Amino acid sequence: MDDRLSEHPEPAEPVEASSGPAPLTGSAPRRVHIKTFGCQMNVYDSERMGEALARAGYTETASVEDADLVVLNTCHIREKAAEKVYSEIGRLRQLKTARAAVGADTVIAVAGCVAQAEGAEIVRRAPAVDLVIGPQSYHRLPELALRAGRGGAAIIETEFPDEDKFAALPARAMPATAPRRAPSAFLTVQEGCDKFCTFCVVPYTRGMEYSRSVAEIEAEARRLVAQGVAEVTLLGQNVNAFHGAGPDGAPWSLGRLIRHLADIEGLARIRYTTSHPRDMDDELIAAHRDVAELMPYLHLPFQAGSDRVLAAMNRKHTADEYRALVARIRAARPDIALSTDIIVGFPGETEAEFQATLDLVREIGYAQAYSFKYSPRPGTPAANLAEQVGEDEKSERLQRLQALLEEQQQAFNQAQVGRTLDVLLEKPGRHAGQLVGRSPYLQPVHVAADAALVGRIVSVGITTAGPNSLSGLLL
Ligand code: 5AD
Ligand code: SF4
Repeated sequence: MDDRLSEHPEPAEPVEASSGPAPLTGSAPRRVHIKTFGCQMNVYDSERMGEALARAGYTETASVEDADLVVLNTCHIREKAAEKVYSEIGRLRQLKTARAAVGADTVIAVAGCVAQAEGAEIVRRAPAVDLVIGPQSYHRLPELALRAGRGGAAIIETEFPDEDKFAALPARAMPATAPRRAPSAFLTVQEGCDKFCTFCVVPYTRGMEYSRSVAEIEAEARRLVAQGVAEVTLLGQNVNAFHGAGPDGAPWSLGRLIRHLADIEGLARIRYTTSHPRDMDDELIAAHRDVAELMPYLHLPFQAGSDRVLAAMNRKHTADEYRALVARIRAARPDIALSTDIIVGFPGETEAEFQATLDLVREIGYAQAYSFKYSPRPGTPAANLAEQVGEDEKSERLQRLQALLEEQQQAFNQAQVGRTLDVLLEKPGRHAGQLVGRSPYLQPVHVAADAALVGRIVSVGITTAGPNSLSGLLL
């Protein structure tokens, strides 16, 4: 596809991301507020957008009232998530009017998956929006925000451009005066999905699978480590389908990439999310056995326990195949903590089929899980299926499922009491003198410790477990 503004007559001036600050109209420093909805990939994208805008002279502000540019980085995965965006825009419209009364302009930009999925429809529903920008065009945000601020019709940019946004976004440098990065960082290695589960919008909003090259990922990881990062979480909508070009020109698997990154001095921990059962290959499973830096935690969605429902979802695996896969993973790394995603009330799901989901959860045992009521998404095949499950039925099933999952999570946390765990201390905790970090199993751990220890991995004797976190003593 070409690189035109899809609904804007003016041709785009190419921006060179490395060419320094873009010229700004007006002399006051510009302030940007970025609000992120949805998944970790959006968190990562928001950071990259913030860095690109900083290059163009913007400073980030935590207060939306002060912002000359507000970016909403949105999520379209379920209806509720998408609707949140419109109520947020409603609030911003009032703010924009109030700021205009005192002579301040506010540019409202909608980014992320709602932008990609709904495009011009957003501006029709919410005319206060000045710019709609899809996830593949973030390298053009500074230029487009500037243009949107000059008034005129809203700009809609939702093409899948030819150029690589990662290459065009500024390298992840931090100004010398900036504080060090948080010890744990996200790093997107793969985007998009070719799986086409029948309930899911991702293949439409994020496009086909694309993997970054190993060299690009390694360079970014090294830069992050130089800035104080000790843990990276490799991100992708379907991260274990990673097949980026290696230094030898051949496609590398995620397992191979992880082994390679584990050699980076100072990179103590590696995680990755989200994986598809079909792409869990031997090399990745072996990495869980062999690579000490790869944390014993795996998010592996199964969505439903009934083979009929799994087939209707186009999941490309059965419940037994999932069971066998988990057995292989546990053989490689017996203490691995498993997490999953589950949907209840997929069209046509009977009580017996829902029971198959409960059975699978009971059998596997999860440390953690996300569960959702099926939400019909426009344009996806399942949305048109006749036998939609009633809202009350879905809520009731979700409650039963979540009661079981909470029980399992509590049991998993409780099982850590009395153990000594390595904890990467990340930030101040709720109480003075306390820090919070993560165990290898991704549990938040609260511990009394000096603030100077942030970024260090320490041994913690676990003393108590709650439903969502652990507490312990520094050893
Ligand atoms: N309805 C409910 N849950 C969904 N998910 C994706 N699409 C839908 C939908 N239409 C869930 C899946 C996926 C997670 C990110 O969101 O469980 O793994
Ligand atoms: Fe959506 Fe995940 Fe299925 Fe891809 S594999 S279509 S991202 S649920």
